[in-house]
Amino acid sequence: MTKAKTYSDLRSARWMAPDDLRSFGHRSRAMQMGYGPEDWEGKPIVAVLNTWSEAQPCHMHFKDRAEWVKRGILQNGGMPMELPALSLSETFVKPTTMLYRNLLAMETEELLRSHPVDGAVLMGGCDKTTPGLVMGAVSMGLPFIYLPAGPMLRGNYAGNALGSGTDAFKYWDERRAGTISKEQWVGIEGGIARSYGHCMTMGTASTMTAIAEAMGLTLPGASSIPAADANHQRMSAECGRRIVEMVWEDLTPGKIITREAVDNAVAVAMATGCSTNAIIHVIAMARRAGIPLELDDLDRIGRTTPVVANIRPSGKNYLMEDFYYAGGLRALMKQIREKLSDKPITVTGRPLTEGLDHVQVWNDDVIRPMSNPVYHEGSLAVLKGNLAPDGAVIKPAACDPKFHKHFGPAIVADSYAEMKKIIDDPDYPMTCDHVLVLRNAGPQGGPGMPEWGMIPMPKALLKDGHRDMVRISDARMSGTSFGACVLHVAPEAFVGGPLGLLRDGDIIELDIPNRTLTMRVSEVELEKRRAAWTAPAPRYERGYGLMFTKHVEQADKGCDFDFLRAEFGGPIGEPEI
Ligand code: FES
Ligand code: MG
Repeated sequence: MTKAKTYSDLRSARWMAPDDLRSFGHRSRAMQMGYGPEDWEGKPIVAVLNTWSEAQPCHMHFKDRAEWVKRGILQNGGMPMELPALSLSETFVKPTTMLYRNLLAMETEELLRSHPVDGAVLMGGCDKTTPGLVMGAVSMGLPFIYLPAGPMLRGNYAGNALGSGTDAFKYWDERRAGTISKEQWVGIEGGIARSYGHCMTMGTASTMTAIAEAMGLTLPGASSIPAADANHQRMSAECGRRIVEMVWEDLTPGKIITREAVDNAVAVAMATGCSTNAIIHVIAMARRAGIPLELDDLDRIGRTTPVVANIRPSGKNYLMEDFYYAGGLRALMKQIREKLSDKPITVTGRPLTEGLDHVQVWNDDVIRPMSNPVYHEGSLAVLKGNLAPDGAVIKPAACDPKFHKHFGPAIVADSYAEMKKIIDDPDYPMTCDHVLVLRNAGPQGGPGMPEWGMIPMPKALLKDGHRDMVRISDARMSGTSFGACVLHVAPEAFVGGPLGLLRDGDIIELDIPNRTLTMRVSEVELEKRRAAWTAPAPRYERGYGLMFTKHVEQADKGCDFDFLRAEFGGPIGEPEI
């Protein structure tokens, strides 16, 4: 290891070393906890940011795994300091974890700034925890390693593999149709999530940890290791050992997250099938590093990167456990080798692509070659036009191809409650040419962009056997959803975006090959409607919600807070001690 730093350069030494009254306080209080000078003298202090909680099934093993991280830190002559952070359970936190991603990012940044630490291991995995932790740590700028929770084991019931999210939707339909008994339903409940770890489909969690790895922020291969596999303990200890070296080497995130590193991460995300949610997060993460990633960049990379991970929901049969046995994310990178830049390095200090030529793909039905992909084009299209001047997204592969070019009259709902009335009315006058529009469900309107974008098919059409139609919203949808759903329309209706000017019966035109989303309403008419538009009352009048409403940016910018942007204000610097 080349030491770029000596002990007196470390920020923790400012707390622990001086012969003064404040440092006396720090040392005596460390001794109150049972530590002695041999624990800290000459050693880096490493934060272990742990998002464990009793409301977080995806991170249940983190209480134990933190001990493995600490073991690694101690093995390499560091001092661990475990700090709990907001857990953001996708399952239990309401109205949506998206409302709190930025709160975790702020907490991460400030935990690292205010404590005597020189580097960090970030423990996350459940959807928003990956971007939240990474965004904050990037802004703080200390060396860090991301430790992904790992996917849970495959679900299992009656001899069938069950996938998180997707199969819950599927079997709920059967339950409603009366083809599944109460007893079977309870069996599915107990079998669909049967170990700790995050969702094991290629939903938002798996896409985000893949993005973190491809950006260089994890140890190679780390994101694919199932949470319950003993390799996960070994990887955790290795994170501990390696972070101590990174502190001495001064390997800060700015040296890892370059333009090419971000492009590599986007290419890998596209090849996985990419949850639409991940688009918002990767933009936010890149922008924290000062890299102005745009929706157009994602569209450009998406057009030329095939989906090669045959994992549900994009793929047919497989789940993340199969992905690991087939070689994991390193094997996927090998399959799309020509799409990756050799320049970026990882937390190892070595190039991301180093050693890829020797990686084995153990099952090329699970991780396909580019010559036999799951989908030839990437998983995502970005649409623009007078209905979405700043962009909207759709997964072309997830919708019936007959909707790739479509026009039809709008049926508009101003709230989810209003939309629910429409879709639950078996006699609502509509055909599958109609376009369902849900607005006021964006970053400020939702608030927090709830996952309402996969508007359920209306009863009026279901009874005639229709299973897909064009739906448009400023909301998000779950990473395990599907259908002709246009999402993330920006700017959102709530802040005066053109989606808010749309009226029932206006003709909407969707053209995925040409990447357009327009309403056939004249500019003169739109101007009239704009003049008559009034802003809705704010959703929150106090507290965090109010701050969120005042500062959250639109989806195309990653929904970060404006005052947390890389270029906002001057550097904050180090605290007075
Ligand atoms: Fe945690 Fe899906 S609920 S990743
Ligand atoms: Mg209406």
